[in-house]
Amino acid sequence: MLHTLPRDESIRLEDVSKTFVLHLQDGARLPAVTRLSFSVRPGECVALHGSSGAGKSSVLKMIFGNYLTDEGLILVRSGDRVVNVATAEPRDVLALRRQTIGYVSQFLRVIPRVPCLDIVAAAAREDGCEETQALARARDLLARLNLPERLWGLPPATFSGGEQQRVNIARGFAAYRPIMLLDEPTASLDAANSEAVITLIGERKAAGAAIVGVFHDPAIRNRVADRLIAVSRPERSEAA
Ligand SMILES: Nc1ncnc2c1ncn2[C@@H]1O[C@H](COP(=O)(O)OP(=O)(O)OP(=O)(O)O)[C@@H](O)[C@H]1O
Ligand SMILES: [Mg+2]
Repeated sequence: MLHTLPRDESIRLEDVSKTFVLHLQDGARLPAVTRLSFSVRPGECVALHGSSGAGKSSVLKMIFGNYLTDEGLILVRSGDRVVNVATAEPRDVLALRRQTIGYVSQFLRVIPRVPCLDIVAAAAREDGCEETQALARARDLLARLNLPERLWGLPPATFSGGEQQRVNIARGFAAYRPIMLLDEPTASLDAANSEAVITLIGERKAAGAAIVGVFHDPAIRNRVADRLIAVSRPERSEAA
């Protein structure tokens, strides 16, 4: 089915719902998101807020196509096409991730034994950078995020929580994506590093990216977000 989006929108969720079925608990059903609707314009940052377990990360994972959507539409603009992630084929979801949607997850997941400079440079190469340029971009980002240079050649498995998070952010920002999903990017960062992330987000907004983020700290949320969307925990149910 062909979908359309108003010209000034990059993302639109319409009545999105998701229930987890817990097979290890006799098929108990855990409603996570109920009829959520919002849209995001280019250059705008929309922050999802709500209590722990409310479903914020699940919403980002549905937009990224990591979690299946049970009901509703998730429309994203990709070049001159509009794709409904809720029903997209896996290969279309992969194409979106290569060209359109960037995602900084709540926790870093990487292939073991790859040094962090290479992890970030690999993401920059996805933007079409050749090797030298990709490495330069990776160095620039890691330096802006104050990751000590002595760590650049090491795999991040043994890094502190905040160091891993900065590698995650550098990787997420290494390629320009017109849509960005940020899941608590400043959660384990100190004030100076949070400031660096706020600046990066501001630059992407100025470049026209549409951003959906979760920011634990209300002061940071209010600085980066143009609008807030409340995500609340639906009524929990009973076994199926
Ligand atoms: N893959 C999954 N299988 C089963 N339940 C899940 C799954 N992912 C999330 N949940 C459940 O869905 C609910 C929402 O989780 P989610 O991670 O989206 O919350 P959140 O709002 O991001 O919370 P936090 O602020 O703590 O990060 C939680 O109760 C969680 O246990
Ligand atoms: Mg979360």
